Amino acid sequence: MEKIQIFDTSLRDGEQVPGCKLNPNEKIIIAKELAKLGVDIIEAGFPISSPNDFKAVDMICREISDKTICALSRAVEKDIEVAAESLKNAKRPRIHTGIGTSELHIKYKFNTTPEKIIQRAISAVKYAKTFVEDVEFYAEDAGRTNNEYLATVIEAVIKAGATVVNIPDTTGYCLPNEYSEKIAYLRDNVKGIHKAVISTHCHNDLGMATANSIAAIENGARQIECTINGIGERAGNTALEEVVMTIKQRLHDKFYTDVNSTLLNKLSKMVSEGMSMMVQPNKAIVGENAFAHSSGIHQDGVIKKRENYEIINPLDVGVDHSSIVLTARSGRAALAYRAKQVGFDLFKTQLDVAYNKFISIADKRKEVNEEDLTSMLTDLFENNFKEELNPITVR
Ligand code: KIV
Ligand code: ZN
Repeated sequence: MEKIQIFDTSLRDGEQVPGCKLNPNEKIIIAKELAKLGVDIIEAGFPISSPNDFKAVDMICREISDKTICALSRAVEKDIEVAAESLKNAKRPRIHTGIGTSELHIKYKFNTTPEKIIQRAISAVKYAKTFVEDVEFYAEDAGRTNNEYLATVIEAVIKAGATVVNIPDTTGYCLPNEYSEKIAYLRDNVKGIHKAVISTHCHNDLGMATANSIAAIENGARQIECTINGIGERAGNTALEEVVMTIKQRLHDKFYTDVNSTLLNKLSKMVSEGMSMMVQPNKAIVGENAFAHSSGIHQDGVIKKRENYEIINPLDVGVDHSSIVLTARSGRAALAYRAKQVGFDLFKTQLDVAYNKFISIADKRKEVNEEDLTSMLTDLFENNFKEELNPITVR
């Protein structure tokens, strides 16, 4: 079993999103929860970008001593100095520095040559090493970088002292086979690759971020960069909860993480509220509907045995139960189950009457909630079932 390091960048890449900005105190609250969750590295900010970001990194370093705290910089001396200064109280500081390596970035962002990019990458890593031992290098837009050239860059930065090499699919361009082949290519062709950890950093522009990150660990990556709820630039980053649960549910014979998955739901809500970023209801793992069943066939199956339609026990991610949502697609099994939950045990004949009434209500609404259900059943027991032996089991 090999450990996969979880590098959380909710407070840096996640926070870059318009409207998600947090002040240093808000960042500290989330950082402490990330530490409790069990991530290995917290990327706390981009200190040169603003005085508040610098302050947040500095405060997080003072408060959290048992996690690696990482600060981002470009391959620019001043950035690296400011990142180092913000990390000076960290017990385990890491500087994350790097530069674009794709043809597009080299030509149109830096207006330079591939050789000069390598020199800048080497200088940045060497300079960062004068401040801290742990230096992570990112090859921005590695997803669209030619593999041979990327291998040359990565070999050079490892020689310069990089301890982690981050291979970002900055634009979410790669397909899982392309991204995993890239990682395998580096694993097999870069001299000295064993001296560094290969990291994934996948954006979600084509909805491939989780698939790409998982394909990469199967091919040599041992760190995944991700964010809570997948927040981040454009379509976001790899969702932490998705990779953690994929490893736990499907790859547990090969890999593990130190994340306590039972805290995922709570932290998802906290980040969503703190950053005013709604989580889509059908979001994997943490969406409102992730453990909700609304069609009759599924409800009947789940009531008989949860595993019929759930591959994750909701308790494992901090959700206390699966929910049976009553809609016009629900069947008798679901109605009987929910009726029992609100205190009414129905005989077969009563269920038939109740079901007809329920369908006529449900057809006019999106959902029959607990209040609607209780009122419908109370009315039936007061008016229709009053001559019968009343099996009501009021709680
Ligand atoms: O997406 C990206 O390339 C990044 C780097 C700065 C690591 O966020
Ligand atoms: Zn990114």
